[in-house]
Amino acid sequence: MSLNLRAATADDVARMVQLNREAYVDLIEDDVVFDEAQIRSHLDHFPEGQIVAELDGEIVGAIATMIVPRAIDPLAPHTWMGITDGGLFLRHDPLGDTLYLADIYVAESVWGKGVGRALYQALFDLCRKLGLARVIGGGRLYDYDDHAAAMAPDEYVARVLRGELKDRVLVSQLRAGFEVRGLLPSYLHDWRSRHWATLLYWANPERTADVEQRVPRAEATPKIAPPT
Ligand SMILES: CC(C)(COP(=O)(O)OP(=O)(O)OC[C@H]1O[C@@H](n2cnc3c(N)ncnc32)[C@H](O)[C@@H]1OP(=O)(O)O)[C@@H](O)C(=O)NCCC(=O)NCCS
Repeated sequence: MSLNLRAATADDVARMVQLNREAYVDLIEDDVVFDEAQIRSHLDHFPEGQIVAELDGEIVGAIATMIVPRAIDPLAPHTWMGITDGGLFLRHDPLGDTLYLADIYVAESVWGKGVGRALYQALFDLCRKLGLARVIGGGRLYDYDDHAAAMAPDEYVARVLRGELKDRVLVSQLRAGFEVRGLLPSYLHDWRSRHWATLLYWANPERTADVEQRVPRAEATPKIAPPT
């Protein structure tokens, strides 16, 4: 099994659309999967931030990223549609300091084989290479729907953090090295997570000192929103 990561090109767009549908089989009906225009727009605005993973020569995973303009605080409550401009990355700004993980997706047929882990690594490598301060993203609470009748999302996340419950997506993000800075309600229309997401944060260790100077931790940490 040979795994290869590389920047996406225009020739990959059709496969990436197909792959996004393979990764989000249960969201296709809700029309929140990428279409060709969105992926082309990502490549137009930030080709370096679109990375695909090939397993034995076939694309089986990808990340979609953009750099957030400094005028926007990505630690403040936000939605996926809002921060990504409807999934088009129109405000991608090379002068920003935050790499935003808009999507990570792997074909369901190869889940659990380390493709996601390699993509998270490529994400952090990109952050370091570009000299950016941090990676932020919204992580869907993949298995929350199974527990929503029994507990609020903040308790669910706390239990996953303590290792008492497993969440396919959040566990992969914690293993990758993300920390959870809060919860984002109505982040993305997604029945599995009841539309909640974690606010994920990874600090570039080469930049941590000056980030902490500019963004005092107490101010940067949003309160966990109450359940609705
Ligand atoms: C989330 C996703 C990208 C992970 O990709 P993947 O290729 O299955 O991930 P990996 O095989 O690299 O697993 C990553 C880590 O999480 C762990 N993991 C994955 N699923 C797990 C589970 N159900 N329980 C416990 N650990 C799990 C793996 O053991 C691995 O840990 P390790 O590095 O310590 O061995 C993939 O499941 C996916 O595409 N899901 C659908 C799209 C989606 O929801 N994306 C997230 C958007 S926020």
